[in-house]
Amino acid sequence: MLLRSLIRPLRTSTLSARSSFVSSHSHLRLRAMATANTPDFNKPLYAPLAELDPEVKNIIDKETWRQFTGLELIASENLTSTAAMEANGSILTNKYSEGLPNARYYGGNEYIDELEVLCRKRALQAFNLDPAKWGVNVQPYSGSTAKWDLLRDLMQAGANQRLASRHLPPSSNRKTVSWVLASPTGGHLTHGYYTAKKKMTASSIYFQSLPYALAPETQLIDYAGLAAQAKIFKPKLIICGASAYPRDWDYAALKKTAETEGAWLMADIAHTSGLVAAQTLNSPFDYCDVVTTTTHKTLRGPRAGLIFFRKDLKDAADLEKRGGPHNNTIAAIATALLQAAQPSFREYAKQVIANARTLADTLVGHGYKLQTGGTDNHLVLWDLRPLGLTGSKVEKVCDLMGITINKNAVSGDASAQVPGGIRLGTSAITSRNMLEADVKVVADFLHRAVQLSLLLQKEAGTKMLKDFVRELRAEVIEFATKWPLPGVDVSTLKKPAGIHE
Ligand SMILES: Cc1ncc(COP(=O)(O)O)c(C=O)c1O
Repeated sequence: MLLRSLIRPLRTSTLSARSSFVSSHSHLRLRAMATANTPDFNKPLYAPLAELDPEVKNIIDKETWRQFTGLELIASENLTSTAAMEANGSILTNKYSEGLPNARYYGGNEYIDELEVLCRKRALQAFNLDPAKWGVNVQPYSGSTAKWDLLRDLMQAGANQRLASRHLPPSSNRKTVSWVLASPTGGHLTHGYYTAKKKMTASSIYFQSLPYALAPETQLIDYAGLAAQAKIFKPKLIICGASAYPRDWDYAALKKTAETEGAWLMADIAHTSGLVAAQTLNSPFDYCDVVTTTTHKTLRGPRAGLIFFRKDLKDAADLEKRGGPHNNTIAAIATALLQAAQPSFREYAKQVIANARTLADTLVGHGYKLQTGGTDNHLVLWDLRPLGLTGSKVEKVCDLMGITINKNAVSGDASAQVPGGIRLGTSAITSRNMLEADVKVVADFLHRAVQLSLLLQKEAGTKMLKDFVRELRAEVIEFATKWPLPGVDVSTLKKPAGIHE
């Protein structure tokens, strides 16, 4: 009797509203707007952005316009797919799922578990990894948090002791952590960058690090020098990977040093992971113990990070000690990884590299100096010092023209704050369908920007030069708006209010 009463359908206004909603098959419409029954305090939940918050909508519209009418040459950026943006903007953002699949601190995670398991499977597939040997954590919010989580866990005393028996000589309990390719030579701040006066990131505050260098004559990684330094410094971990290194890595040489000195080897392939997945660059997985990446650069996914770890390091790296995963982002990563595993992505990666080479060759053809003289990957590092220009000046002029680049330190620069170069990348323009012939046009714009910067430096602020920038901007708009922009119907795009050019 009690059981019968418990299973009898309830007759509340909420449920009757719900059943009519289901039977009328109009759930999408009902979900999309408030009804007469919706209390005032919930009405904002149904209003579209343009109606509820025109100010934010206008900012999004202006940014869309900027991306459409400009040339995106920042090497760490790309254009993610319509599908990834759809997943990223989905209802999955509502769900808490701290923990790992089938071991959560919250209920209701059956579909989230399914998603995370799928995303892990796709991550291993995209990089051609054997699931018996490699694991992956897909929860990091970004490349920096992925790296920090990994460093923290890998360097924990418990983990070290456990791992020491397998990999490391007794010196494994030393405090020194990592070798770092510090920023002025192309590394990333999160690898432990510090100046004489200041430790710049958590990794340099909590761990001791030492940068290795480029060989001055070639500007390539000095692997022999690194091996010699390792003999003295006895690092526990060697980190490779960079933000501004236009050449591929010799992971075998690094592994040899790591093994000789009893260190772990970690690759941060944040920049190049798409090119690694497409097998157009060497694979760090053949040699490294752990590999981290962002998902939004050459991999062309949403903003997030991944941690790959050899299964025998699982206890150290399969990190549970983090906040709630961003499940909407994990869905978008899964979607991006599905694309990265397709043959068409390989074609994309090849084109990114062909475009970067064309960009490098065209600039060299104009007589400019590039670090290492060219590129193997998606980026070009342009040394402006022979021209007497700073990276900031050229970045500023390019900004006015609608060409987005960033100032960057080049080998031998004393300061990362006033660097003597700029960094360029071809991932995003290749995602807008540009091929080699189009990249030559882009290189020509850059050539004109640099010549203009030289003139501006000599005759600062003359009206004529300002007019010249305006003319160049008009030319860039004409060229850039010929290309599509993923996720945007550019045929109906109108210049939003608040853009003054
Ligand atoms: C090599 C490298 N590692 C890590 C990061 C940090 O990634 P995120 O900005 O997602 O934290 C970057 C960012 O540019 C990077 O270039």
